[in-house]
Amino acid sequence: MAAMGTEDDRLRMYCCDIFKMDMESLGKFDAVWDRASLVAIYEEDREKYAKVIKALLAPDFRYLISTTQYTPLEVYSGPPRNIPTALVEKLFSDVCELQVLEETTRPKEVIEQWGFDYYVETALLLTPRPPDYYSRVALIPVQHPSPPFVGPGRPHPRQARADPNTRQAIDCLSSQGR
Ligand SMILES: C[S@@+](CC[C@H](N)C(=O)[O-])C[C@H]1O[C@@H](n2cnc3c(N)ncnc32)[C@H](O)[C@@H]1O
Repeated sequence: MAAMGTEDDRLRMYCCDIFKMDMESLGKFDAVWDRASLVAIYEEDREKYAKVIKALLAPDFRYLISTTQYTPLEVYSGPPRNIPTALVEKLFSDVCELQVLEETTRPKEVIEQWGFDYYVETALLLTPRPPDYYSRVALIPVQHPSPPFVGPGRPHPRQARADPNTRQAIDCLSSQGR
């Protein structure tokens, strides 16, 4: 793995096959900007690629992906390859929540000239999915008396609030006087 960096070591660049990286030596990343990367990966390597990226994410990561979506043609299927948002969800939803930030389309004439029926570029933001146990722990109020929300092994209120289903369940239980 060839690496080079700035003198202050704030920026390092690696030149290597992503699938042959020494993952341990890289550490974790707060932010990933996936620009023309997932769309360039071979279809058969996508699961492997997602596994690599997920292993590199720090706990409170932000992962930005730009994708292209179109109906592949017999004469052209990329790269950039067609990456429907549902596919990103399938690859990453075990640990990420997904938000579509922007969807843009090219002018109709350009799309027709390229031979596509549609061509959409999408910016997606992936953020940590709260672990299931937050929901389970947050539903503890069914016990009597209700334990406080803040404490060892309990989610911080911000995390409890972040999950609308949990919040709804808590509100519902509270309104029933439990
Ligand atoms: C379309 S280019 C995008 C480059 C850059 N991110 C940009 O936005 O201009 C896709 C890049 O992915 C690189 N690539 C594809 N498979 C790779 C792999 N297994 N490991 C590392 N790089 C890979 C290619 O060499 C190419 O430089």
